[in-house]
Amino acid sequence: LAPWLIVPAAGRGTRMRADCPKQYLELDGRPVLTHTLARLHDAFPHGRLLLCLDPHDRWFDDAMVPFADWRRIDGGAERADSVAAAVGWLGERVGDDEPVLVHDLARPCVTVEDLRRLYAAVASNEAGALLATPVTDTLKHADGAGRVAATVPRDGLWRALTPQGFRLGVLRAAFERAREQGVAMTDEAAGVERLGLAPTLVEGRSDNLKITHPEDLALAALILRAQRE
Ligand code: C5P
Repeated sequence: LAPWLIVPAAGRGTRMRADCPKQYLELDGRPVLTHTLARLHDAFPHGRLLLCLDPHDRWFDDAMVPFADWRRIDGGAERADSVAAAVGWLGERVGDDEPVLVHDLARPCVTVEDLRRLYAAVASNEAGALLATPVTDTLKHADGAGRVAATVPRDGLWRALTPQGFRLGVLRAAFERAREQGVAMTDEAAGVERLGLAPTLVEGRSDNLKITHPEDLALAALILRAQRE
C-alpha cells in the first residue's frame, strides 16, 4: 500500500484564535500535526507524502514527519490552491493511474480502518471515493436576516470528510476544469463531479472531526482517548 498522500496544511487557522497555526496546537500531549501524520503512516507505512505548508511557517520541523518518502510543497492562498500545487508537482512526475489520497491535516481522528477502506474503494472506482457520514441534524436554510426560510430534507444528504481519493489523472482534470471555469473547490470531489463523474461515498466514522474552532481540541482529545480504549 503505497498511495501518494497529499496533506494540505498551509492554513493559518484564524478561526482558532491561537498564536500559531492550528496544527501546532497541543492535542493529547503532541501537536495536532503529529497525530494526523501518525494515523496516515500507520495505515500506509510506504505511502509517499506531499505536505503542503505555508512557505513562512516557522513552527514546522522535519523531525515531525514519520514517512521515509516525503517532501514539502509550498501551499497557496486557499486550500484548493495548496492541493493544486501538490497535484501539479505530481503531474510532472508520475503516471495518471497512480492513486492519490487528499487528507486535511486538521483531521487527526481519522482511523486506520477508515483510511484503508477508503483506499480500497479508490482502487476499485474509476471516479474515486471519499469518506462521508449521513447528516443527522435537521438542516435549515436561512433567509439572510437570521430567520428560517426553509427546512432542507436531510434524506440522502451526507457530510463530506477526508480523505478523498482519486487517480491522479482524474484529479488533474478536475483542477484544470475548475481553473478554466473559475470556480472555487471546497473539496476535491466537487471538482471531480464537474467532470460528470460520480465519486463513491464510503461511510466513515462520524468522529472524524475537523479541528476548526478552539473547543474542537478538547473534543478531539476525548475522541482519541475513546478510540484507544
Ligand atoms: O481552513 P480549513 O479548516 O478548511 O482547512 C482545511 C485544511 O486545509 C487544513 O489542514 C489547512 O491547513 C489546509 N489549508 C491549506 N492551505 C490553505 C488553507 C487551508 O493547506 N490556504
